[in-house]
Amino acid sequence: MQPAEARISSAFIWRRVHSLMGLWLVLYLAEHLLVNSQAALWLGEWGHVFIQMVNSLESIPYLPVVETVLIGVPLVIHGVWGIHRALTAKLNSSKSDGTAPSLPYGRNRAFTWQRLTSWILLFGILGHVIQMRFLEQPKKVNEQWVVQVSADERLPPLAEKLGVQLVSEGRVVHATANSPGAAMLLVVRDTFKSPLMIVLYTIFLLAAAFHAFNGFWTFLITWGIILSARSQRAMIPLSIVGMGLLTFLGLAAIWGSYWLVK
Ligand code: HEM
Repeated sequence: MQPAEARISSAFIWRRVHSLMGLWLVLYLAEHLLVNSQAALWLGEWGHVFIQMVNSLESIPYLPVVETVLIGVPLVIHGVWGIHRALTAKLNSSKSDGTAPSLPYGRNRAFTWQRLTSWILLFGILGHVIQMRFLEQPKKVNEQWVVQVSADERLPPLAEKLGVQLVSEGRVVHATANSPGAAMLLVVRDTFKSPLMIVLYTIFLLAAAFHAFNGFWTFLITWGIILSARSQRAMIPLSIVGMGLLTFLGLAAIWGSYWLVK
């Protein structure tokens, strides 16, 4: 048997694996928001690049397996240890009656927000996956992709541009597209017609942008990349730029896909 001091504790291994999965999720989040921003950004000629990107992702062989292994498993591993860490954390950045420490400094607040945002992410990701993967996912019928959206006056001209056929049944419109990307663009656009969805997704996005890049900063410390106070300070602007970029890309999809795409 190894002496106690030579053994690596399971908490140490969990911490490292959690951290690596966190970095992986930051990369995935950046890719995901880049694709979705193209639903609305002028770069994408009003949804054109979004459709292309979704179509190429959908053409990956064994996509459900690839998604489960590359996104689902890292998220579950990160989430399980994350929930444990969030439940056992001792938050100390708010005012106290003197019976507990009160340290209202930047890093203590960031520690608190990393944990608060993890709850928003947990429920946000569950809701988002149920909505987009199970409830609203385009259905493939004879090499066509069918979705249900609600009628509005700007839908018919857009559908004509995208080569999508519409069949109305009162306020419900059955849209048939010849690519998964075009069908998904209509789903995203339809989701963000609702002010409630806009508010919920904006909160979700802000939480994700903060969690990802505050987490990126703590990741650099976890792995000993920034140890001196000077190097830690120097990385703060980079983390803020990262948060800003993710926020910009996500807000473009949330606020632009209905209001800008014509
Ligand atoms: C888009 C999803 C997510 C991304 C991009 C992400 C990213 C990260 C990153 C990069 C870290 C820093 C790791 C380190 O300090 O070495 C981190 C930490 C953390 N994450 Fe996440 N995370 C996500 C989802 C979640 C979820 C769903 C939970 C839990 C419910 C969670 C809970 C935590 C906690 C508690 C920490 C701090 C751990 C510590 O300091 O020991 N995260 N996350």
